[in-house]
Amino acid sequence: MNRTQAEARIRELHGVIRHHDYLYYVKDRPEIQDAEYDRLFAELKQLEAQFPELVTPDSPTQRVGGVALDQFPKIEHAAPMLSLDSDQTEAALQRFDERVKKGLGTVDVRYVVEPKLDGASVELVYDNGVLVRASTRGDGTVGEGITENVRTIAAVPLRLREGRLKYPPLLALRGEVIMRIDAFEELNGRLLSAGKVPFANPRNAAAGSLRQLDPQITASRPLDVYVYDILAGEGAEASTQWQVLRALEEWGLRVNDLPRRVTSIPEILEYHQELELRRDDLEYEIDGIVVKLDDLAGRHVLGVTSHHPRWAFAFKFPPRKEITRVLKIVPSVGRTGVITPGALMRPVELGGVTVSRANLHNREEVARKDIREGDLVRVQRAGDVIPQVVERVVEAGRKRAKRFSMPERCPSCSSEVIERGPFTVCPNSYGCPAQLAGRLEHFASRDALDIDGLGEETAKLLVGEGLVHTLPDLFAIRPEDLMPLDGFAAKSAVSLVRAIDQASRVELHRFLFGLGIPEVGVTVARVLARHFRSLGALRKAAREELEAVDGVGPKMAQQIQQFFSDKRNLAILDRLVERVTLLEVTGDSGTGLADIKIVFTGGLESLSRREAKQLAESLGAKVTSSVSRETGYLVVGTDPGSKYDKAIELGVAVLNEQEFVRLMRDHGAEF
Ligand code: IVH
Repeated sequence: MNRTQAEARIRELHGVIRHHDYLYYVKDRPEIQDAEYDRLFAELKQLEAQFPELVTPDSPTQRVGGVALDQFPKIEHAAPMLSLDSDQTEAALQRFDERVKKGLGTVDVRYVVEPKLDGASVELVYDNGVLVRASTRGDGTVGEGITENVRTIAAVPLRLREGRLKYPPLLALRGEVIMRIDAFEELNGRLLSAGKVPFANPRNAAAGSLRQLDPQITASRPLDVYVYDILAGEGAEASTQWQVLRALEEWGLRVNDLPRRVTSIPEILEYHQELELRRDDLEYEIDGIVVKLDDLAGRHVLGVTSHHPRWAFAFKFPPRKEITRVLKIVPSVGRTGVITPGALMRPVELGGVTVSRANLHNREEVARKDIREGDLVRVQRAGDVIPQVVERVVEAGRKRAKRFSMPERCPSCSSEVIERGPFTVCPNSYGCPAQLAGRLEHFASRDALDIDGLGEETAKLLVGEGLVHTLPDLFAIRPEDLMPLDGFAAKSAVSLVRAIDQASRVELHRFLFGLGIPEVGVTVARVLARHFRSLGALRKAAREELEAVDGVGPKMAQQIQQFFSDKRNLAILDRLVERVTLLEVTGDSGTGLADIKIVFTGGLESLSRREAKQLAESLGAKVTSSVSRETGYLVVGTDPGSKYDKAIELGVAVLNEQEFVRLMRDHGAEF
């Protein structure tokens, strides 16, 4: 290929890749397989390597190219990035509506209502369709230039789409950079195990990730964006907010799919209530709704104050942050031996849930936040994430308890603890009752042997009463052993023994998961079972063989191999396999739902969204967030959102809750 040909092909590839990025990130409707996309991308990279002078800044290969900065440049916004007038009360909403109507001299007013996204506000500037600048909000007039960092966010187009609708030559946009809750939890897990300070919430994680001087770090953080406003754009053909949102979509930007057009207060209240109910099901955090006058000309009539526009109002949800007192800090030993300090608190209601304990993670976290028994603390709940202690609330003049320190001996078995990074660990893996109880609980858990009636309390009891010294002992328990124990009667004793017996016929992947091998979660257990097909084959697998399995990394391979070379583990395993019947893994897909994409919308009644997700995943299905042509089923609960319309439009199979449950049972789920 000569230079001219290469140039033409590169231009063509830019267009094709951009188009598929748009379908994937903006429309959530990919049309090609990942492998095909990778091939196009690789071809572009190869051509660019051959002709480096043909690399342009808007090339899809140029997302992560920037060098680390010493400081961020100051950037003046195209128009002030104002804040919002906000309140949680209906009365304040009424007053806002009255002011708007009075200001416009009409009662005939239309609003657009949108979720109030809890992220970091950014300005994106496109010059002739090419992203040239991005900045934080800063003081509203001047922000920090974070262009290189924003370029790493896959959902931000480096070049706008040229479609039917022309974009203005200079376009400044406003949007919110967010981090999805699952990505946030994973990031915090990574930070914690590296002994680093976790983020308090997804908003801080998004803002903190954007303000990294090294774009490589930002690139490693899973950020996302929703664009909702045109700050400046001479010649943009839109006269309403609704048209603005449609135009942004046309230009290839990612726009939230929840906004709605309404004309009355009751409709606004309904939307507010609806989103508050769905709040836990959304994949990202919102803290209210934003009510915006739809008509842009009307906005000019109303104008702005120095702080906020008079045409918009943030109608917030009641906070999920509360203040309460720490009664006690209690270390508890998990199944892996890690000793975690937990705060027992005076019960407090957080967004409809009563909370009385929170995880303080490790000794360094307690020290960093300087939390002591008796302190007043601010706690919060994000999504359905476990409550967290955000910070201590300083109380002037109050005498505080002494600093908390981790115990020197394991609270369960009195072994001397060891320190591993920020964590405190009990090394007595096989002799520590707390670790054994934890392992037993895990072995019996839903995704493992799924033994009905064997939860945390019972596991502790069985270990505490000396009925279980190692996992295999579980299968030797007789009803008469249980009957004298607290909380057991003849009937419950018999049913637990029966449940244990039934669970002893178990699929290999559930058994593997139940063993609690470090790094082996539900998905990896499935992968291993499918690959090795028998416990014997897996036990013998060499490190290289494990690493060659798709989805198993070097660290995982090492842990698995280490687990199967520990003599004590092998002795336990030998006794376990005498007691259980491992069901053969037959066929490749096993369940027939392997890799089928399932999307949920609306609330379910008989099980939580999380349980439904786990159930589907345990059968090999993939649960994704948005409907595309690739979606196998859309499961519709009460109050379905716009996903339903999309599924109908695309001809995706729609199931109600009962049909979903039947599908799961038909594929072998037992519940
Ligand atoms: S409009 C002039 N729409 O909320 C109006 N803001 O508390 C500008 N926010 O700084 C804002 N979601 O970062 C608007 N759908 C949405 C929003 C939104 C989140 C943020 C924005 C603003 C903050 C004000």
